[in-house]
Amino acid sequence: MSILVTGGAGYIGSHTCVELLNEDYEIVVVDNFSNSKPESLNRVREITGKDFPVYKADILDREALTAVFKENDVEAIIHFAGLKAVGESVSNPLRYYENNITGTLNLCGVMEKFTVNKMVFSSSATVYGLQDGAPFHEDLPLQATNPYGRTKLMIEDILRDIYTANQNWGIALLRYFNPIGAHHSGLIGEDPNGVPNNLLPYISQVAVGKLKKLTVFGNDYPTHDGTGIRDYIHVVDLAKGHLKALEKVLNDKGVEAYNLGTGNGYSVLEMIQTFENVSCQKIPYDIQNRRPGDIAISFADPSKAQRGLNWQAEKDCHDMCLDSWQWQKNNPDGYAATEKQTEVKA
Ligand code: NAD
Ligand code: WQD
Repeated sequence: MSILVTGGAGYIGSHTCVELLNEDYEIVVVDNFSNSKPESLNRVREITGKDFPVYKADILDREALTAVFKENDVEAIIHFAGLKAVGESVSNPLRYYENNITGTLNLCGVMEKFTVNKMVFSSSATVYGLQDGAPFHEDLPLQATNPYGRTKLMIEDILRDIYTANQNWGIALLRYFNPIGAHHSGLIGEDPNGVPNNLLPYISQVAVGKLKKLTVFGNDYPTHDGTGIRDYIHVVDLAKGHLKALEKVLNDKGVEAYNLGTGNGYSVLEMIQTFENVSCQKIPYDIQNRRPGDIAISFADPSKAQRGLNWQAEKDCHDMCLDSWQWQKNNPDGYAATEKQTEVKA
């Protein structure tokens, strides 16, 4: 029996593949490599010493997905495949709705056909939208402020409807806060295309000399130093949360949302300071206006995941920045520089 990992070559997917293989799960990866490189999966093999099938396939392609289910004894899906750039979703909403929603509908349709009804889904803290105060707990009213966020909200609703119609399904909706960091081997990590949108990849690229300086978006928020506060979570802790959620859906029926965060918030200036300390590099920055759509403070109430999944984050801000730095220093150009041919099934 195998766990199908859609989007398994991506940032969070590749780290989750490592944890799954370390726990002796058999896995199958489906990825169209629209935002990743096959080299990440070579590195997963290198870290774990284990091999697994990889299909270069698009979840929009129902025939290709059907072939994957025919050729493998799929027991459950961890569904990472999706587009995730908020700004791009505003300028190209159709691409986001089609890729994320139609892709998920296809996947669920094929799952239904093969009577596979266990899924761990990558949702996001973005479904909390603009809240008045943190921490965010799972029962808050949900809202989206951009098309990307709306795809996550809609998919959560679709999965709830699927469960209502057939109560054999077991579904975990994992709402990630701000994943950062990398595997401590320094072999896999976040490899954004072009100039990064997110804080930590941007800081890392300044530290390694690829970018000149960071822009801090606003220092007039109602926080202790005026900069935005987020709940950064180490990607390996996040990956381990997926294994706990997988155990849950394999053993239980139902649909449940869980926050995956640490419950602690750090400001932009605190992140810069910690990164400078661990890397011994200066991070030059400018303060500019707030970025439209940003909220002042976001951090999780992670107690439901602790109770329901027996999971909690273990790594702190220092570990996260150190591992991000280790990855960036070892791989200043991400996977591009060392990309080899990966064996990919058609
Ligand atoms: P990522 O872009 O690194 O990984 C996504 C993977 O899915 C990529 O390998 C990409 O090539 C693949 N993919 C995209 N569309 C596909 C399609 N149609 N068919 C097959 N493969 C496809 O992103 P990530 O940071 O690893 O995020 C994984 C998931 O978690 C996404 O669904 C994202 O929305 C969600 N998420 C991410 C964050 C974050 O900050 N990184 C936060 C909350 C939620
Ligand atoms: C963090 C803080 C910025 C960049 C995004 C998505 C969210 C989720 C996670 C997928 C904020 C500040 C940032 C920079 C800065 N993704 N910042 N200079 O916005 O919390 O969340 O990624 O689901 O949906 O919106 O993360 O890393 O972009 O920003 O000052 O160059 O850093 O203003 O306070 P965000 P981020």
